[in-house]
Amino acid sequence: MASTLRFNGRVVLVTGAGGGLGRAYALAFAERGASVVVNDLGGDFTGVGKGSLAADKVVEEIRRKGGKAVANYDSVEEGEKIVKTALDAFGRIDIVINNAGILRDRSFSRISDEDWDKIQRVHLRGSFLVTRAAWDHMKKQKFGRIIMTSSASGIYGNFGQANYCAAKLGLLGLSNCLAVEGKKNNIHCNTIAPTAGSRMTQSILPEDLVEALKPDYVAPLVLWLCHESCEENGGLFEVGAGWIGKLRWERSLGALVRQRTQPMTPEAVKANWTKICDFDNATKPKSIQESIGSIVEALNKINSGGEVSANPTSRATSATTSEFAGAIGHKFPPLYSSYAELDTIMYALGVGASIKEPKDMKFIYEGSSDFSCLPTFGVILAQKSIMNGGLAEIPGLSINLAKILHGEQYLELYKPIPRAGKLRCETMVADILDKGSGLVILVDVYTYSGEELICYNQFSIFVVGSGGSGGKRTSDKAKAAVAIPNRPPDAVLTDTTSLNQAALYRLSGDWNPLHIDPNFASLAGFDKPILHGLCTFGFSARHVLQQFADNDVSRFKAIKVRFAKPVYPGQTLQTEMWKEGNRIHFQTKVQETGGIVISNAYVDLVPASAISAKTPSEGAGLQSTLVFEEIGRRLQGIGQEVVKKVHAVFEWHITKGENTAAKWTIDLKTGSGKVYQGPAKGSADVTITLSDEDFMEVVLGKLDPQKAVFSGRLKARGNILLSQKLQMILKDYAKL
Ligand code: NAI
Repeated sequence: MASTLRFNGRVVLVTGAGGGLGRAYALAFAERGASVVVNDLGGDFTGVGKGSLAADKVVEEIRRKGGKAVANYDSVEEGEKIVKTALDAFGRIDIVINNAGILRDRSFSRISDEDWDKIQRVHLRGSFLVTRAAWDHMKKQKFGRIIMTSSASGIYGNFGQANYCAAKLGLLGLSNCLAVEGKKNNIHCNTIAPTAGSRMTQSILPEDLVEALKPDYVAPLVLWLCHESCEENGGLFEVGAGWIGKLRWERSLGALVRQRTQPMTPEAVKANWTKICDFDNATKPKSIQESIGSIVEALNKINSGGEVSANPTSRATSATTSEFAGAIGHKFPPLYSSYAELDTIMYALGVGASIKEPKDMKFIYEGSSDFSCLPTFGVILAQKSIMNGGLAEIPGLSINLAKILHGEQYLELYKPIPRAGKLRCETMVADILDKGSGLVILVDVYTYSGEELICYNQFSIFVVGSGGSGGKRTSDKAKAAVAIPNRPPDAVLTDTTSLNQAALYRLSGDWNPLHIDPNFASLAGFDKPILHGLCTFGFSARHVLQQFADNDVSRFKAIKVRFAKPVYPGQTLQTEMWKEGNRIHFQTKVQETGGIVISNAYVDLVPASAISAKTPSEGAGLQSTLVFEEIGRRLQGIGQEVVKKVHAVFEWHITKGENTAAKWTIDLKTGSGKVYQGPAKGSADVTITLSDEDFMEVVLGKLDPQKAVFSGRLKARGNILLSQKLQMILKDYAKL
């Protein structure tokens, strides 16, 4: 048997409780253990006069039955005083029933200013003042239940009640807002539109109905909505005679009546009127986010060339689809774009690369000899094609952009990302999964430079609330997330994001205002703007690269992450890593809360041995290769002597086009010296970067190394004075 709903220890304030509905509520709450403030001004039903009799009688009745109650005779226009009565008598306030009301019915043209104002003051302003006086107490105790009393007249309109209808529906607006604002403090606000016999309805309803429609047939709904176990918040109910029904908004699918390059006209509205008003397949928006989502979706459709009145999705509900046949395999138009060093540096700063960490210089200073693009910049190259409005154009799917979440991300690189480039993205819907609570759309993006495939991305896009039609739950096309090992992490790196982190990261191309605009963030249900999931992704990948690959981008093969929770700029990211062969499992937490924000993630590294094995062939085809090899051979005879003179290790980065094509080390510091391919095994005293052609010019004596430094053709890092000795070394070996 269901347990009895009790209100012991709760303090309830019922306004207008001297008669009618209010009296029934007060008696019912008291009977179930609540302490009740019985408020009533005691005037007539038009709001004229006042007296204490009405409230006193109800208090007396409650006490006679063994309940707890006190009277208050103030008008609801004195909200503070009424709440003070509750606090003085019982020490707290838990539940407010805004019930007091009057009528001043007149046909519209005969409504006087006073008739209008008085009705607004008692119903709308009175409910506001009483509720506001109780609000902070409820917030502090993290509990509150509020009822607003609306009316079918307000919902549907009624002849002769313009003032009353306006006030009554105003109360619904007030309630909607309090439901949103109160939610996080467990303050719920609901609205009822009752029908009951009372002195107010005596003149409207036939006598036998006034008798039959007892207020007692309304009170149980009010009690349930106010119980601590009731989750309902922001609801609107019609109630009377023992029947209760819930109301909601319904919105037609509507029609686009504007084209991108043309003005919107009333004629286009007229032409589409039937469609605008067609409630077939209508949606039932529940929040302002859903409402705005459709408007944003319309904007995207128009901007990407949606046609006048074209609504290819009219057979689908807002975020659902009946069949995916046309969607799977759908290709987005190819997207061409280019980027430069500025973009890769901005990205690196956006994901936390910093001059604090000397090894990060290669990502943020284009003058670094080993300047590199962070591997995760690969997602930036691809996401433009996702954000370009293509999602809204998938045939057979109507995606409400306000309801999509970035669920997971996979990125695989086929070569290090060049420091600048011109690219083409080929994008297609790989598959669609039905996870019950939503659809997952797998979008594959292949990014090419010319004919060369640079990287592959798979975006898993979760469309909330649109699943459940029994589609398949898994796909062999999906790049799966992998659980982390069951042992303490092998390494943990942390980074505190800056308050400007999202503001900086968005410059890399994700302009969603959710990450910068507090108003937009609050519409989406967040306290403040949140960090981009892909920004956290970039931080984590950087940590793995730093910890396990010494920031060598050529060792980065692939990454997979699942986005679990949002991060706020300013929070500290903590990447926990486990090494299992060449796979580095990781998860990322927010240090301040301990919450996991990226879960079941991994980075696959190219084994270090594979890199060094590959290096010889990298040098092939370069003129400098022959010279280095020859220097090595010649050193064999006279190495010791040269080592004495030079005493330095030189690391060479030979470039071809925009990229480092080969690395060589001339070690003239240890033993009898040696020359080998690849970076210095210990540390280099100076690292020199120059093109294969310029290297040859230097070697052949056509280009003075010092002058090459000043003209920017030769970059030297480390002890650059040592570069003076270059001429000596190279001169000796130049005459090949
Ligand atoms: P009622 O007239 O029996 O009760 C209203 C009570 O509010 C009265 O006791 C009155 O003295 C009190 N009151 C009026 N102005 C006040 C003020 N400024 N401060 C404090 N108390 C004040 O009417 P009923 O039917 O019980 O109505 C209760 C609420 O339900 C009202 O808000 C009414 O508009 C609403 N309602 C009632 C319907 C019905 O079928 N009875 C239909 C739709 C709405």
